[in-house]
Amino acid sequence: MFSLVATLLLAAASGWHAEPAHTPHAMVVTEQHYATQVGVDVLRHGGNAVDAAVAVGYALAVVDPCCGNIGGGGFMLVRMHDGRERFIDFRERAPLRATPPLYQDKNGNLIPGLSTKGYLAVGVPGTVMGLERARTEFGTRSRAALMAPAIALAKDGYLVGTADARVYKSMPGDTIKVGDTRTQPDLAATLTMIARDGPNAFYRGPIAQAIVAASNANGGILSMKDFASYYVNELKPVHCSYRGYDLISAPPPSSGGVTLCEILNVISPYPFARWGWNSVESAHYVVEAERRAYADRNTYLGDPAFVRNPVAQLLAPHYAATLRASISASRATPSSQVHPGLGAVARENAQTTHYSIVDSAGNAVAVTYTINDSFGAGVIAGNTGFFLNDEMDDFTSKPGVPNMFGLVQGTRNDIRGGKRPLSSMTPTIVTRNGRLFMVTGSPGGGRIITIVLATLQNVIDYGMNVQDAVNAPRVHMQWLPDVVEYEPGAFSAQAIQQLQAMGYTLKEVPSWGSAQAIVIDPKTGMRLGGTDRRRPEGLAAGY
Ligand code: DON
Repeated sequence: MFSLVATLLLAAASGWHAEPAHTPHAMVVTEQHYATQVGVDVLRHGGNAVDAAVAVGYALAVVDPCCGNIGGGGFMLVRMHDGRERFIDFRERAPLRATPPLYQDKNGNLIPGLSTKGYLAVGVPGTVMGLERARTEFGTRSRAALMAPAIALAKDGYLVGTADARVYKSMPGDTIKVGDTRTQPDLAATLTMIARDGPNAFYRGPIAQAIVAASNANGGILSMKDFASYYVNELKPVHCSYRGYDLISAPPPSSGGVTLCEILNVISPYPFARWGWNSVESAHYVVEAERRAYADRNTYLGDPAFVRNPVAQLLAPHYAATLRASISASRATPSSQVHPGLGAVARENAQTTHYSIVDSAGNAVAVTYTINDSFGAGVIAGNTGFFLNDEMDDFTSKPGVPNMFGLVQGTRNDIRGGKRPLSSMTPTIVTRNGRLFMVTGSPGGGRIITIVLATLQNVIDYGMNVQDAVNAPRVHMQWLPDVVEYEPGAFSAQAIQQLQAMGYTLKEVPSWGSAQAIVIDPKTGMRLGGTDRRRPEGLAAGY
């Protein structure tokens, strides 16, 4: 109790304490209010959470162009009220012509920018096929009905807010100002074609043709065959438990669920509530668990269609105990002394956004989808009207060399034609005693996993309301570099000194991520929504 009071006082002092949105029936939380409203309208008119998720997915592609997309890919985690679970993997795939040294010169040196800008950076997008799979399997509305609001927002335009305009500053070709009505006639035409002809328009028709033509003209390697052979996977989610809560999360080709669960397994015995939020002890054990789990992540995980992922070994209780035993009570372990815990790998052949939805029946959807960088590869093919991803940078361009998120990854995540790059996206649903409790997720590249971890711990260990849980300043460690990053306000001056004395290198960096979460009050069934203060155009709303 003392720590909860202390946490709330700290929150009040540093200005991030706020109340969640409360609704009795249904809740939608996204980082752009027009998209939230689209989802709420679908739910109000009797659509279910998956219908709303499809409509929101297309709406964000219009009103959140940094991140929402049809030119990228992602993951949708569904839990229906009857307990059915689905993880829909619509991650981008590497073009069939891609090879491991794609971004290296003749001497094996990486060519800067090749994996992040322009057509060579582009993976085959999955969003249109992924949303359609979700709709046909769980939805109750026509594609045209669910896409109509997005088409209207593209055709008629929407009002650009202050925080929107800030994001658009880095948009290629941007001249958009706050207060403008932003219309996108090209995108409206593209979406209209998809509404009419479905994924065929995208993967076999004029949209694929436009992308392949632009790619050919600009040094890319995308082909019509890449588009025609694209497929969506349905995978078994990763499961683990933490203090009586059951987690459902993202399996490979995301590293998210495995790494999150590995960290939670390691930290589960520690008394965080007693130690207090971001106290020296709490931070020490969480950071050490993160350090070890990211070493494993970067070494062992990759697309399961290409490499074996030792998920059961990484999540075994005795493995967590082994990792725990390697943590010193008083000192940071240098990352140079932390090696991936399962031994050598056998040889074998940002921008992003998250949204969470719960409907009146208790169906829950968590979607994280992405074009990787802000505005992806920075290219729009012909008059298609949407940015293409630079997801290829999530692969290991060269073993041992960091990618744009500083992740130092291994050969299991090397580039192969048709392979999916390893992701950190972690859409997560939590139940308790079989009942829905929480839906969460965030963008943030390699930091996504620790953002989701913090959101969960803030609710489960520190008793924060869901709005505070997403607002609270964050801490992150990813094995390499051997640095603990923290947001302003995460630590007291005294904690910083003590952690430094234990051997930590700490670095304050500007805030990151955009967590969008829902908690169900177990007593009343109220839906409580928390939208991240870091994205002020966000909205938690429902009815
Ligand atoms: O899949 C991944 O892990 C990354 N492509 C996500 C990128 C991201 O979150 C960018 N946002 N900050």
